[in-house]
Amino acid sequence: MKLAVIGTGYVGLVSGVCFSELGNDVICVDKISSKISMLNGGEVPIYEPGLKQLIAHNKEEGRLSFTTDLTEAVRNSDIVVIAVGTPSMSNGQANLSYIMEAAKEIGQALNGFKIIVTKSTVPVGTNEKIRDIIAEHSMYPFEIASVPEFLREGTAIEDTLHPDRIIIGAATEIVKETLIELHSPLTNNIMITDIRSAEMIKYASNAFLATKISFINEIANICEKVGADVTQVARGMGYDKRIGHSFLKAGIGYGGSCFPKDTQALVQIAGQMDYDFKLLKSVIEVNHDQRFNIIRKLEAILKELSGRTIAVWGLAFKPETDDIRDAPALEIISSLLSKGARVKAYDPIASKNFSNVLQHECLEYCNNVREAAENADALCILTEWNEFREISPDLIQSWLKLPNLIDGRNLYSEEELKGTQLIYYSVGR
Ligand code: UGA
Repeated sequence: MKLAVIGTGYVGLVSGVCFSELGNDVICVDKISSKISMLNGGEVPIYEPGLKQLIAHNKEEGRLSFTTDLTEAVRNSDIVVIAVGTPSMSNGQANLSYIMEAAKEIGQALNGFKIIVTKSTVPVGTNEKIRDIIAEHSMYPFEIASVPEFLREGTAIEDTLHPDRIIIGAATEIVKETLIELHSPLTNNIMITDIRSAEMIKYASNAFLATKISFINEIANICEKVGADVTQVARGMGYDKRIGHSFLKAGIGYGGSCFPKDTQALVQIAGQMDYDFKLLKSVIEVNHDQRFNIIRKLEAILKELSGRTIAVWGLAFKPETDDIRDAPALEIISSLLSKGARVKAYDPIASKNFSNVLQHECLEYCNNVREAAENADALCILTEWNEFREISPDLIQSWLKLPNLIDGRNLYSEEELKGTQLIYYSVGR
């Protein structure tokens, strides 16, 4: 099949590349010419394991190309995928301006029947608005569909090529049949729904996963008070198939470009319908507060943070990505700096992105774990990179000035800490 994919962010780029890997002809489009030049030059604007190689392979096979010319891409395709961003506005609502703009340009570019698929996360009813805008600008027939994306950063290719399920929200037989054919090499588990339900499935899924995380974080906080171990509690809970093991890792709360934005947006969507989504509001509040446990623990050990040197390992919102959008490290480090501490930070790949948004005379970006930890009054682990796992607690102790380790991701087991002099605080243990 011939596809045009509008938007080369995580969702657009990874889906486009994976569709080409399945043998389809894919043209990826972006307005930002520097991104397209990079992609045409063999570079990838985002860090995602395996993506660069997959792009190179499919370009070589002649199935994948990149352009800023939306009109040309749409005219040369049968299916147009909208995968532009839907960032949060200041009130938490999803900003749909990129979506609406893409719809208008697609409408103007149509030259025959096409199926327009939305993969961006959009509030219920948005696909109908997209349909209206396209219709306003085109005389050609077209159909719309909502096919939400469930990939995670860091494992995006695996998630896209081997999804748990594909949701196709569509109204007509031709769309259902075409999109089943497009997605059937990926999984047998394809569910057809109406368009509004497909839009809702995406928000409900992210909101539920965020709820699991805030739930286990609160259980962790109680575990600390009653002397239980949240990792054991989560494991024991997870053996119940109705609960499952995933997304029960206690830590410093969720971050990234999806959960914070989508939970806020769903609260707004509900609110617009006069529904007070109390549970989700609490999930958001718990998540926000959880990151400050790091500060509370530091203050419990060091009392005054002013004049202290705090080492931070991990700036990305999770491992295997250089993405720092809504990373807990942003607020934690800002808070440390505002309390007068000096911060020495290290991340294997996210330091550059982080330093673009946070510069301070008391914040130093270090080149390796040792440089960050040396002579610090405490070390905080904020992202569970494998690189950190390999450093022995004894080595950490030898680098630090004071033997304080605050492990925000439960990277180390209590067992590994036995025999060291480290004063060790983790989450929920
Ligand atoms: C999330 C969803 O998992 C994807 O299914 C969805 O497609 C994507 O959002 C999206 O809407 O585009 P992502 O944000 O890439 O994916 O990353 P996750 O692996 O879900 O992690 C999100 C945050 O939750 C991270 O900060 C992570 O550290 C945190 N987390 C995750 C926990 O604190 N505990 C857990 O048990 C799991």
